[in-house]
Amino acid sequence: MSVLNKLDKLENFQKFLEENANALVVLFFAANWSDESKLMNNVLQELSKDERNKNVLRVLEVEAEDFEEISIKYGIEAVPTFVLIKNKQVVSKLSGADPAELRKRISQGLQTSTSSTAQKPEDLNDRLKRLVNQAPVVLFMKGTPQEPRCGFSRTTIEILKNNNVTFSYFDILSDNEVREGLKKYSNWPTYPQLYIKGDLIGGLDILKELVASGEFQSMIPSKDDSLNEKLRKIINTSKVMLFMKGRKDEPKCGFSRQIIEILNETGAKYESFDILTDDEVRQGLKEYSNWPTFPQLYVDGELVGGLDIVKELKQSGELETTLKGNQ
Ligand SMILES: *[C@@H]1O[C@H](CO)[C@@H](O)[C@H](O)[C@H]1NC(C)=O
Ligand SMILES: *[C@@H]1O[C@H](CO)[C@@H](O)[C@H](O)[C@H]1NC(C)=O
Ligand SMILES: *[C@@H]1O[C@H](CO)[C@@H](O)[C@H](O)[C@H]1NC(C)=O
Repeated sequence: MSVLNKLDKLENFQKFLEENANALVVLFFAANWSDESKLMNNVLQELSKDERNKNVLRVLEVEAEDFEEISIKYGIEAVPTFVLIKNKQVVSKLSGADPAELRKRISQGLQTSTSSTAQKPEDLNDRLKRLVNQAPVVLFMKGTPQEPRCGFSRTTIEILKNNNVTFSYFDILSDNEVREGLKKYSNWPTYPQLYIKGDLIGGLDILKELVASGEFQSMIPSKDDSLNEKLRKIINTSKVMLFMKGRKDEPKCGFSRQIIEILNETGAKYESFDILTDDEVRQGLKEYSNWPTFPQLYVDGELVGGLDIVKELKQSGELETTLKGNQ
């Protein structure tokens, strides 16, 4: 019998975090097909049963593929992954089945007493700094580029697209801490907020002025163009191209392994690229295709999707046709 909590509904996620705000929360991102997840489940059960950890350690198991929204929010790219949260802050993140390291991180997390509230603003600042620098151009907006949730955000997206700007975005409606924190960080009270190379440019009005005066084009980092060119070339290496963690014969995460197995079964010819060997490609491709996770499969230069989509195509019998592309 499991003594771990398992997430059943998306609505209950935030509730769990709030109810356990005073404990060390371990989000355990797992997959039911993964033996490593099973192994780590046992480790966490042992730790949870320990009397000393009662009330101070709370584990929530999250089936990573069933709760994509949460997985994306915490940048989960493989299972098992553990995200340790204290005082609503992420204090540690660990991927893979390493019981010793997990024990160590958990006991560190338990030891840092509640006096860590003193460090809170610093942690948030680090996080904001990382977010505004996640790409050369970053937009903090309401909603997503596909589904903006306010008129200003929508217009901003249109302007960026019309100017052929490659950008990354953050939905401030998904994270109140970022939403409030960034206002202070940048001393700017409203959204959307546009950042270039980590610096705040401003909101919609300023963007409009810059475009009108012709200054905007020169501000867009030109590195984008050379990076995009590089990405296009790699995507073009082969008709069917897989971006994965590790190599075909040595996948480094469960998602990549599964997709390889499915592709191998079809007998289709394909090449792969190990994103762990090139951080520029790894980060760049997320923006290029506006797809946050790996593996990513391309046919004829176009993104097909990740493991879930490939599985669906296989189930519906469309995979082989898709892999043939538009020859
Ligand atoms: C954006 O790209 C399109 C197609 O490549 C081009 O026609 C258009 O002039 C570009 N716009 C700007 C502002 O560079
Ligand atoms: C991609 O490959 C096609 C032919 O396979 C070629 O016509 C095209 O120019 C290539 N694009 C790039 C950016 O290399
Ligand atoms: C998939 O096929 C490639 C050869 O194309 C082989 O090197 C690799 O080991 C295979 N991987 C799996 C997981 O079957």
